[in-house]
Formats: sequence, structure tokens, C-alpha cells
Amino acid sequence: MNITIIGAGNVGKALGENLSNSGYKVIFGVKEISEDLKKFISDKKNISLKEVKDSVLNSDIIIFSIPPEVLFDVLKETGELENKILIDATNSISKKPGEFNTVFEALKKKSGSEKVIKCFNSTGFENMRNPRYGDIGIDMFIAGSDEESKKTVIKIVKDMGFEECYDFGGDDKVELLEKFALSWINLAIFQKMGRNIAFKILKR
Ligand SMILES: NC(=O)c1ccc[n+]([C@@H]2O[C@H](COP(=O)([O-])OP(=O)(O)OC[C@H]3O[C@@H](n4cnc5c(N)ncnc54)[C@H](OP(=O)(O)O)[C@@H]3O)[C@@H](O)[C@H]2O)c1
Repeated sequence: MNITIIGAGNVGKALGENLSNSGYKVIFGVKEISEDLKKFISDKKNISLKEVKDSVLNSDIIIFSIPPEVLFDVLKETGELENKILIDATNSISKKPGEFNTVFEALKKKSGSEKVIKCFNSTGFENMRNPRYGDIGIDMFIAGSDEESKKTVIKIVKDMGFEECYDFGGDDKVELLEKFALSWINLAIFQKMGRNIAFKILKR
């Protein structure tokens, strides 16, 4: 399965590395194909680099790991994304995409696709590269109203080494999932626990 990742920063690189190691073909959609990025992919299998406008055609799944405020610049390049599963991995903490509260909301209204899913936003990029803590896999969380797309994304998340991918609910739970991400940021950074922490649900 081809997965395009738009934005090859901390999150994009971590997801790309894990997905390619997990057997997926990854295409980075970037502003500029830099020497640094060429070096980054040089020792990795199944990863290629394309400008954003050429990166989406052959993928059914597009991950957005960009600063929220550049979303509309990106959509001008990609054009309509009808029928593709769009995964919003961003958090609109200080900056937002135009008049929208979240990238998710903006994608729902402006991308041409109904298959918009929130995922990968609720933990640090180090945990996306490696979700294993010894023998234990950490949990991931997902939200969005398109149930079929959610099933597809949950399978990908588990292939990447996360133990579980818990369903937060529909589109109305997306902002809650962004608040959940703020809880991770609060503990890791402001309460100084460090970035090697993760959420895990216990049940009995
Ligand atoms: N860092 C985390 O642990 C973490 C965890 C969960 C969620 N998030 C969220 O994920 C998003 C990305 O975070 P990050 O830490 O990966 O940020 P980052 O390291 O700054 O990466 C953002 C990437 O987006 C690229 N970009 C900017 N404008 C673009 C455009 N018009 N077209 C294509 N690419 C463009 C940047 O490229 P240039 O550098 O060339 O401008 C950069 O590679 C944010 O919304 C953040 O809140 C971050």
C-alpha cells in the first residue's frame, strides 16, 4: 500500500521510517527535495521523495504532518483529494488553518474527501518512530466518523507496532483528541517528565 506523507519534519520522518520498516511504500510530499532529505532516505527501503504536487496521485492514504497554518498552501498543490483517506496528524496549538479550528475540520470542508481521520497527533514523534517500550507496545488513539477508513488506519497503526488503537469516537471527538495531545505535551514538557513517555489503557 502506498502512503504519502506531506511534511517531512520530526513527525513525517518518524512515521515514514516506521511505515517503511513495516512494509509500506512511503512517498514524502515536500516543498523542496533537499540534500538533507536525500541523505535521510538514502539508507531506507521503500521511501521516495516528490514535490507535493506529484506526491498524491498514486497513494490512497495521505498523512498531513505540517504546521496547520500552511494547510491551504499544500491543498493548492495537491488539488482535489476525493476518495483518498486523509490522516490529520497535526495539533492546532498556537496557529490554526485559516478560519478553521483544526486541520481535520478544514480538510473535511475543503479537501474534496469525506474520509478524514485524526490519528498520530497524541504522542511525541519519538514514539511514532518506535512505539515499543521493551516488550510492551504503547497505545494510539483515533477519531473520525468514517468507520471504514478508521478500520484501514487502525490496521496500519497496529502494523507499526502500537499495541492497540483506541477509537475516541466520531468527528465531534477530534478536538478532544487534540486536547489529549496537550495532556501529553503538558506531562512531557511542562511537567518535565521527558519525551519518552506514552499513554497506555489498562482494563479489568
Ligand atoms: N513534534 C511532535 O512530537 C508532534 C507530535 C504530534 C503532533 N505534532 C504535530 O505535527 C505537525 C508537524 O510537527 P513537526 O514536529 O513534524 O514539525 P516540523 O518538524 O516543523 O515539520 C513540519 C514540516 O512541514 C514542512 N512544510 C512546511 N510548509 C510546507 C508546505 N507548504 N508544503 C510541504 N511541507 C511543508 C516543513 O518543511 P520546511 O522545514 O522545509 O519548511 C517541515 O518539514 C504539527 O502540527 C505538530 O503540532 C507534532
